[in-house]
Amino acid sequence: MPESAASTARLTKFYSELSPSLPTVKAALTGAGVDTDHPRACDLYQRDIDCHNLGMYRMLVLLAEVVGEYGTPGPSDAVLDLGCGIGGPGRFLAERFGCSVLGIDVLPLRVELAESLTNMTGLSDRVSYRVEDATDLRLADDSFAQVWMLDVSMHIRDKRALFAQIARVLQSDGLMVMHEQSGPLPAAMRPVMRQAPYVAPSLPQLIRYVEGAGLRMLTWRDTTDIVVDYFLNMRNLVLESSEPRDSRRETGIPILDGYLETFAHLGGRSGILIARRT
Ligand SMILES: C[S@@+](CC[C@H](N)C(=O)[O-])C[C@H]1O[C@@H](n2cnc3c(N)ncnc32)[C@H](O)[C@@H]1O
Repeated sequence: MPESAASTARLTKFYSELSPSLPTVKAALTGAGVDTDHPRACDLYQRDIDCHNLGMYRMLVLLAEVVGEYGTPGPSDAVLDLGCGIGGPGRFLAERFGCSVLGIDVLPLRVELAESLTNMTGLSDRVSYRVEDATDLRLADDSFAQVWMLDVSMHIRDKRALFAQIARVLQSDGLMVMHEQSGPLPAAMRPVMRQAPYVAPSLPQLIRYVEGAGLRMLTWRDTTDIVVDYFLNMRNLVLESSEPRDSRRETGIPILDGYLETFAHLGGRSGILIARRT
């Protein structure tokens, strides 16, 4: 069943505050001395401008390394980037592996910006998008060699429907590559849970959902250290870039502190989970 309208409304509010505008992205490129008429996708993702996964570009490099142990996508492969956001990870996949990528996100505002950035970076022959709900995909069975899903499943309440859809659209032997925070979530996470739908099962429960859908778990690689560094950097950036009464600072710092407390002091864990369709 698709996620509820109330949950999508909360996500829309949360991500409209987090998503940059096209002029902001261009200004960041100009500030970095990049020609905004002909930027490459790596000009964006290597500077963490268009990635909203925990750990950003540093995590993408690690993900590519770990997936290499099980099989990277080739130029004739189609990869689904589920919950693609504004598209940085999908463009990374297309540039790194030469595969084609379909990015799906439930929020039109994210997909519109993803499309603009893909056109701007000249990748629209290989990377395309659709607005869809990950629990109710209108995609053919067995159509993707890999499904990547970076820091998305925590927003989705119906995990059974989510993993059933992933298993359905994956080709036999195809890989699901995800990054996620495992639960249970402590009270320190309340500032983010107040802003957006956030449901994180324990790692054993997450694995039961994955395997119950017909996917065989291959590995879980803990990434907590990288994620702690990432949140420390984000915190410094918010403090450096905003006035004391700036709204980004007022809502952003309690959220970042909640994550830091969870991961650095309360035993919170994040990791890369790779599973194969049986
Ligand atoms: C933390 S962001 C990660 C975005 C992207 N994977 C990245 O790494 O840059 C989570 C994304 O999941 C999307 N999302 C949440 N629930 C979804 C759903 N039911 N179906 C599709 N996308 C969803 C959100 O709109 C948001 O863009």
